[in-house]
Amino acid sequence: MNPAADVALVLADIRARRASSTGLELLALLALRSRGSTLSEAVLAELAGQLGLERSHLDRIKVWAEALALEAGQGDAFASCHGTSCTLRGAESLAREVRGLLQESGAECSGLRLLCFGQCDHGPTWRCGTELYLAGERAVREDPRPWKRSGEERNCPGT
Ligand code: FES
Repeated sequence: MNPAADVALVLADIRARRASSTGLELLALLALRSRGSTLSEAVLAELAGQLGLERSHLDRIKVWAEALALEAGQGDAFASCHGTSCTLRGAESLAREVRGLLQESGAECSGLRLLCFGQCDHGPTWRCGTELYLAGERAVREDPRPWKRSGEERNCPGT
């Protein structure tokens, strides 16, 4: 399949399942990855074009998404925010979709549910390594805070 058709199919599939487009670029990258796409230049250019995203933004999200996929199943290597603001912005449904795609790629469901990364106006927010993915802003940026763990919040969303 050609990149344009492959990207269009993945986006149509995601849009058919979700009322919100928040996190669409992350879901598309993970879905393409789970389908065996190499996320080539042509695919990324097509995805950026179809989403109306600057290529540099998409490239940074792609690097973050690949780190997320690699870290999935490694205990508490990543975390999603389920604070009030992120929840109101669709954190639960985005988390279900992301973790479903990670599992489709063979990763165990893991990671933490935390309550706030201090990026409430830009969420739903995810952390992997030292970077935050801000779905509401369609961007990745450095986590400005030291990460605070809470063992009581350690579980698998979607349950
Ligand atoms: S509620 Fe999610 S970053 Fe604050």
